[in-house]
Amino acid sequence: MAKTVVIQDINATGATERNDGWWVEPLMVLGGLGLFIVYATWAAIQGEFYAMEKVEEIIIPAGANAAEFVRPYLSPICSPDLPRWFPELFSWYQWSPAFLILPFPGAFRATCYYYRKAYYRSFFTTPAACSVGGQPSPLSKLLGFTKKYTGETQFPMYFQNLHRFTFYIAALFMVILAYDAYQGFFGWEHIGYADGKNFHVGVGSLVILGNVVLLGLYTFSCHSWRHLLAGKLDCFSCSDFTSKRFDAWKRQSFLNEHHMLFAWVSLIWVGFTDLYIRLCAMGIWQDRILF
Ligand code: FES
Repeated sequence: MAKTVVIQDINATGATERNDGWWVEPLMVLGGLGLFIVYATWAAIQGEFYAMEKVEEIIIPAGANAAEFVRPYLSPICSPDLPRWFPELFSWYQWSPAFLILPFPGAFRATCYYYRKAYYRSFFTTPAACSVGGQPSPLSKLLGFTKKYTGETQFPMYFQNLHRFTFYIAALFMVILAYDAYQGFFGWEHIGYADGKNFHVGVGSLVILGNVVLLGLYTFSCHSWRHLLAGKLDCFSCSDFTSKRFDAWKRQSFLNEHHMLFAWVSLIWVGFTDLYIRLCAMGIWQDRILF
C-alpha cells in the first residue's frame, strides 16, 4: 500500500513528499566542500611546509643563496610563490603565498555553474533539493541571504556573472601549474640531489602531474570555455574556421558532460597534493624516488 506523507508546512526545511535519499547529495557536498575550505584555510594560516626543498641536501655554490634555488615540489595552493618570484615587490609581505593565490582559483570554483547549484542547496538550503521545502540556513542568515531568490541579477549574486573572467585567470594558472609539474621531474639539479642529475621521477612528481591533469580536465570542461569555443556562434558551417570550432566544441562537450566529476576529483587531488608535500616537508612522510 502506498505510504501517505502528511506535510504540515510545505515551506519548512526538508518538508517533502519525496521518499528517496534526496538529502544524501547536499550532505556530502556540505561535508566535502566544508572539509576542503577548513583544510585550505588552515594550510594558508599555517604558512610553512608548502614546498619540499630537502634543505639538508642543498649544495650551495659559493656566493649563491639557497632561496634562489628551484624546488622540485611546490604545493598548488601556494603556486605561484609570488613573494619568492618578486622579492622586492613583496618585501613587506610576511605571510603564506596562499593568501595571494587562493582568491583566484577560489573565485573560479565559487562561480562555477556546477558548484553554484551544489552549494546553494547544501549551504543555503532554499531549497536543499527539488520538491523539498526550504528556509534560509543559519549561514544564509549570517550572510544576509534571506530575500527571495531573484537569479543572478542583484547584489551580491551578480558577481556570479564574472565566471567567464575567472576562467581566463584559471587558464593562466594552468600554465603555472604545468611548470610546477615540469619542476617535479626536472627541478632536482638545483637542490643538489645526491647524483647531481636534474631529472628524477619521485612519487611526488606523479602526484603533482596528476594534479595538473585533473585540474586541466576541470578547467577545460568549463561551460565558459565551451561557450568561447563555439557555443556563442550562430552558424557553425559558415566558414572553415567556424567548422573547426564546431569540431572542437563537440569534443569539449564530452569533457563538459563530466564536469561535476572533474570538479570533485580535482578538488580532492589538490588537497591531497598539498598534504603529500606538507607531510614530506615536515619529515613525517618520505618521498620515494622511483628512478
Ligand atoms: S562551469 Fe564549472 S568551472 Fe566553469
